[in-house]
Formats: sequence, structure tokens, C-alpha cells
Amino acid sequence: MSKQQNTLMGWIDDRLPVTQTYEKHMSKYYAPKNFNFWYFFGVLSMLMLVNQILSGIWLTMNYVPSAEGAFASVEYIMRDVQWGWLIRYMHSTGATFFFIAIYLHMMRALLYGSYQKPRELIWIFGMFLYLALMAEAFMGYVLPWGQMSYWGAQVIISLFGVIPFGLGEALTEWIRGDFLISGATLNRFFALHVVAVPLVIVMLVVLHLLALHEVGSNNPDGVDIKKLVDDEGKPLDGVPFHPYYTVHDMVGIVVFLFVFCVVLFFFPEGNGFMLEYANFEPANGLKTPEHIAPVWYFGAFYSILRAFPDKAAGVIAMGGAIAILFVLPWLDRSPVRSWRYKGWISKISIVVFAIAFVILTWLGTQPATGPNTLMARIGTVIYFAFFLLMPVYTRIEKTKPVPERVTGGH
Ligand code: HEM
Repeated sequence: MSKQQNTLMGWIDDRLPVTQTYEKHMSKYYAPKNFNFWYFFGVLSMLMLVNQILSGIWLTMNYVPSAEGAFASVEYIMRDVQWGWLIRYMHSTGATFFFIAIYLHMMRALLYGSYQKPRELIWIFGMFLYLALMAEAFMGYVLPWGQMSYWGAQVIISLFGVIPFGLGEALTEWIRGDFLISGATLNRFFALHVVAVPLVIVMLVVLHLLALHEVGSNNPDGVDIKKLVDDEGKPLDGVPFHPYYTVHDMVGIVVFLFVFCVVLFFFPEGNGFMLEYANFEPANGLKTPEHIAPVWYFGAFYSILRAFPDKAAGVIAMGGAIAILFVLPWLDRSPVRSWRYKGWISKISIVVFAIAFVILTWLGTQPATGPNTLMARIGTVIYFAFFLLMPVYTRIEKTKPVPERVTGGH
């Protein structure tokens, strides 16, 4: 029985555990007190998810999902719908900012070993989120039905064609719903982009956070704060998520939104990086654009694909580059979590890996000329070496002792 039977809240609580849930996940969820800059990007990812859903709903009100109407409807949104340009740029620039937040969020996990035991499942749900986000962004890019929408889809869907014994051919046809990319493809991508994948993403975010709250957050020191508790069982190095981190996160949100607005209002196309120029031309199945390149957030994996002269090998490497991330929790054999206490091999490896990833990302948006291909090959070797050698270097290197209490965050 509730303690506050006479109040409305008490009445609800007796029927639905609202207060209990709020306390479990907000006011009595103890988060380490030493969260730093890197810990803003989870909440910022959530913010961008909300931005994408809201701007997407409003775009859908005027977008026409057909090969005949799509391109013109986007032009109509940009020119004639009131505030239509803002809604569209919120969505297109929002996709870029979503991926910036996600990549920094993943980088944090890498720096502080947040994927290590007992947080493997948080990481796995995160990886499924990453896959779903990539699928969502890819299908969304097809919807304006510009030249790059069409030819980008052509390149990516054709990758499934490398599967042997006629299976690949059958699969590409099944995905397209036609013998070539057509209105049928556009229609199904619309359905998936607007309804199916967002539902999956929202469900995965819920699972991601439930898994996080079950074991508790990691922190920049990788110290387990549940080990040292006061008389009431509260972690000595923890603070209640609300109000401490709700207020703290507001600072990150305001700064992030400020940068987002600067780009949104002054550089919405990002010099062809966020909205590619070829996509201002309607899709034409008879005319291939001079240079087909993905949007920047797919760049690294596209570079790995192109680093191989053989298409099938490239597809396997690209798939492997994503798949290997799933098993990261089992590749890292270090006795410590945070890179602060790992040995110098890990420290250098993480920095070199991050630089290689950024260079691969950039190369993916550029034409595959001789020197670019060479750099992409070097980058690909670094990418795989980082993960494949991890079980070795994390075990042999000398680590520093981890302090008992977290450092900083007073
Ligand atoms: C829609 C996408 C995502 C959303 C909304 C999201 C949201 C969040 C939030 C709010 C947190 C807690 C706050 C924080 O630690 O920053 C968190 C933690 C975490 N996320 Fe995500 N996340 C997303 C995608 C990902 C991806 C793609 C990965 C990695 C593959 C990932 C890995 C993690 C890990 C390991 C933690 C625990 C971090 C720690 O305790 O140190 N997340 N996420």
C-alpha cells in the first residue's frame, strides 16, 4: 500500500509505479560524480533523436512518397511551405549532428572501457542502435529522389549482389522490389524510414538505458562506485542523477544547440558535406553522377570497401569492420577499464585508431585516386590491427594501479 493514499499521486502509484520508476531512474539513480565532457553525448544523442522524430513528422506532412512527386515535394517544402526550409534543414543538418554525437559517445566508451564487464549488453544494444541509425540515414537519403539518392542507393544495394550462387542477385531484387531502383524502392524505404526503423530505434534506446541502469554508469576513472557506500547504501562517489546531472546536462544541451543553430542557419549544406550538390538534380537512371560519394558519416566504412580491388573482398572487409565492433568487450583483456590506467601501447593505439578513423571518413567522401587509395589501405590496416591485436597488447602491457575513489568531480 502506498504511503500517500489520499493524494492523486498515491492513487496512481497504487495502480502504476510512477514514483517508484522516477526514483529508480532519476532522483535515486546514483551516477558517478566525476562525469566529464565525454558524458554529454548520450543525452545529446537522445536530444537529436527527438529532433529527428519531430522534424520528420512535420516533413512527412508535405512530402510525397512517389518517384514522380518526391523531388518536387522537397522543393515545395523548401520554397512554399511556411518554415519548411527550417524543418528540412533541422532534419538534414540534424542527421549530421546526431552522428557527431554518436561517434563521440562511442569514443567515450572506448576511452573509458565502458563496454567492459558488466556493461557488455549496453554496448551490444548500442551497436544495434548504430546499425539501425545507419540504415535509417541511408534510407532517408534516398527519399528526396535526387541524383545522389538514386545512385547512392544503386551502389549500396548492389553490394548485396556479391553473395554467390545467384542468392545475391535474388536478394538485391527483393530489396529493390524491382529489377532496378524505382518508385517501388522509394515507397518501401519511405515506410521503413518513417515507421519501422524509428520504432526499433526507440525500443533499443529504452533497452540501452535499462541495461545501463541495471549495472550503473561507468566513469572516466573506470572505478566501480558501488564498492564504497555510506550507511544508507548510497555510493560515496555518486550523486543523484536528478537534480545534479539534469541541471549539468542543460549546459551541454545549450552549447550543443548553439553550435547546431550556427550550422543550421549559416551553413546548412555544409559545403556539400551534409547535402551533396548532385542531390539538387532530380534522379536520372540514365545519367551517372561523375563522383558518387556517401555522406560523411559513412565515409570510413566506404573507404574500407574501396580499399580492396575486389568488390567481394571489399564488402567482406566492410561488414567485418562493423561486426568486429560487436565483440569489442571480449577483445579488451585489460585488467583496468579506463585508458588513464592502461599501458602506453593502449594509449597510443587509441589515438592512432581515432586519427585513422577520421582520415578514412574524409577519404570516403573523396574520389578514389592513387594516393587516396593508398591512404585508405593504410587506414584499413590500422583499423583492423587495433581490434585484432587488442587481446594481445591489453594483456601484455603494464597497467597503472586504479585508485579506490574517483578523481575530480567535487
Ligand atoms: C540513439 C542512439 C543512442 C542513444 C540515445 C544513447 C543514449 C545513451 C545515454 C543517455 C547513456 C547514459 C549517459 C552517458 O553515458 O552518456 C548512454 C550510455 C552508454 N552508451 Fe549509448 N546511446 C546511443 C547509442 C550508443 C551507441 C551506438 C553505443 C556504442 C556502440 C553506445 C554505448 C553506450 C555505452 C557503453 C554507455 C555506458 C557508458 C558509461 O557508463 O560509461 N550508445 N547511452
